[in-house]
Amino acid sequence: MKNSQIIGVGHYVPEQVVTNFDLEKMMDTSNEWIVERTGIRERRWVRLGEATIYSMGYEAAQMAIRRAGIQAEEIEFIIVASITGDHAFPGGGCFLGEKMGLYGVPAMDIRNACSGFVYGLSVADKFIKTETYKTVLVIGSEIQSIGIDKTSRGRDISVIFGDGAGAAILRATDNPDKGVLTTHLHADGRYAKKLWCDWPSIHWPPALGKPYDDPEHNFPHMDGRYVFKHAVVKFPQVINEALQATGYTTEDVDLLIPHQANLRITEAVAQQIGIPMEKVMSNIHLYGNTTAASIPIAMSEAWEQGKIKENSLVCLAAFGAGFTWGAALIRF
Ligand code: UT7
Repeated sequence: MKNSQIIGVGHYVPEQVVTNFDLEKMMDTSNEWIVERTGIRERRWVRLGEATIYSMGYEAAQMAIRRAGIQAEEIEFIIVASITGDHAFPGGGCFLGEKMGLYGVPAMDIRNACSGFVYGLSVADKFIKTETYKTVLVIGSEIQSIGIDKTSRGRDISVIFGDGAGAAILRATDNPDKGVLTTHLHADGRYAKKLWCDWPSIHWPPALGKPYDDPEHNFPHMDGRYVFKHAVVKFPQVINEALQATGYTTEDVDLLIPHQANLRITEAVAQQIGIPMEKVMSNIHLYGNTTAASIPIAMSEAWEQGKIKENSLVCLAAFGAGFTWGAALIRF
């Protein structure tokens, strides 16, 4: 059986920096509140019309391809994780494939929010392990800024989310000790409406001849405290699952890359599993929560900063809407 090695990582974030002080001018919030409750200082928001899910995914993919030293034509399968699609259908994978000139190459989308990249990585890994494909591109790309309520009414959500994209290229290897060692995925739809957005959907009023102006339905909503409480339990559980499956312990992990949801969640998780913060990647202060893009952006920056080296044991872990959660253990 083959293993899937990550041979290249990349990311792209829009140019426009939106600071907490900028948000103070839009809604009833403060830099102090946002920093204290989330650790976020700024995020990137696209300028209207400047980028799409697939154009940002394309930029991230180009960086990953360059770093991997491969040609785009070697990619045999495209997976795009995103909940903020450019269009109702088809998914971003098809548009990305078209932009990359990969006509006929299979593409699929994953709508699992913050866990989307870990789900995508797991799917890619299975296709490589079963020797269906040798080279797979996995993208997480989100434009959250367009769809959030930027008034005081939506402040619990809108101060958190940012835009960006990250990419990883997985390649088959015969080395059993390299690459994705294990992945663990979960979902529990009982909590689907604790973090969700109703429209556009089959319930969308224009489809029913009714006016389209209802903030209850057309913006994302979150029961923040509830999500927080579940996150700090599920993150450690799924990380421990990955460690137990491979026989490694927390001490063996060189770097934990959690989904960047809230610095307080990251710190609580690190404390619970007993890993020092020096071995935890955090860039939430710069980008906020970029949903499916947060792990691949953090992984790409960690690689750039020399935090991921040859043979590093890296743990990815995510939790978010659905609820969905998951973890992966990777030997670079
Ligand atoms: O990525 C996917 C998963 N998402 C998460 O993991 C997010 C999990 N949840 C969280 O990160 C936190 O719950 C939040 C950051 C969303 C909120 O922090 P919190 O400490 O749980 O605050 P809270 O919701 O309990 O609200 C405390 C107070 C409330 O005011 P009162 O009722 O105490 O007067 C809120 O109205 O803070 C108020 N508040 C704000 N104040 C200033 C809520 N949002 C804001 C804001 N600025 N942006």
